Amino acid sequence: MRSAVDLRTALRSTSAVRTFRADPVDETLVRQILEVARFAPSGGNRQGWRVIDVRDPGQRQALRDCYLDAWVEYLAHLLAGVTPFSPLLTAADRSAVAQNLERARSRIAPDDFAARLDEVPALLVICADLGALAATDRDLDRYTFIGGASIYPFVWSILLAARAEGLGGVMTTVATALESRLRDVLRLPDEFAVAAVVALGHPENERTHLRRREVDDFATRDTFDGPPLDR
Ligand SMILES: Cc1cc2nc3c(=O)[nH]c(=O)nc-3n(C[C@H](O)[C@H](O)[C@H](O)COP(=O)(O)O)c2cc1C
Repeated sequence: MRSAVDLRTALRSTSAVRTFRADPVDETLVRQILEVARFAPSGGNRQGWRVIDVRDPGQRQALRDCYLDAWVEYLAHLLAGVTPFSPLLTAADRSAVAQNLERARSRIAPDDFAARLDEVPALLVICADLGALAATDRDLDRYTFIGGASIYPFVWSILLAARAEGLGGVMTTVATALESRLRDVLRLPDEFAVAAVVALGHPENERTHLRRREVDDFATRDTFDGPPLDR
């Protein structure tokens, strides 16, 4: 089923989808989605992405196990009251996270998205060729993130292109915390990094009202502390 929503509506209402009907998403459909998403922009048009469509049940379970272990870490951050994986966490924050790991693990239910990741209709791993990234902040004395800007528009385009086919899905990144394990599972060459794991499928239910900050919360004129934009 193709969706007929216009671009503005699609941008305002494409939510993260983590529960899917059993209907399969075959490789041909994934190819069709990538055929649209490949027009995403990247720094210098280097298009340094690779996509691995993971179908093998053993590979999927290995991926799920990485995801699950990283998800426990994510939950431990929440239990410790800090922003998960923020580069600005202090040593004290990190130690609070470590102290919450066991409690976090005990909170995983068998039905959680993380525990059933291997069952999603399509499971794509998006990798980035580090040699192709325009990481203009690579020499700055702070955490670097500009390189990702050459890959994530592509990942988002996959989700939008999937929506155009009547599918839903979610971009996930927690598993990248355990990249060395993923590297073995996927047989990744050294110069590639894992950017995201994307789940796709036919949504179990439609949710189009998204909770997002208002423009006045994040946009100003001229300077960071300038006035809000005209209405
Ligand atoms: C960079 C990025 C990383 C994300 N990582 C995860 C993840 O690891 N696991 C997950 O379940 N959702 C992940 N998400 C999905 C977000 O949780 C979701 O987009 C956000 O909560 C908004 O949800 P909504 O569109 O349903 O309102 C990620 C989203 C982005 C953009």
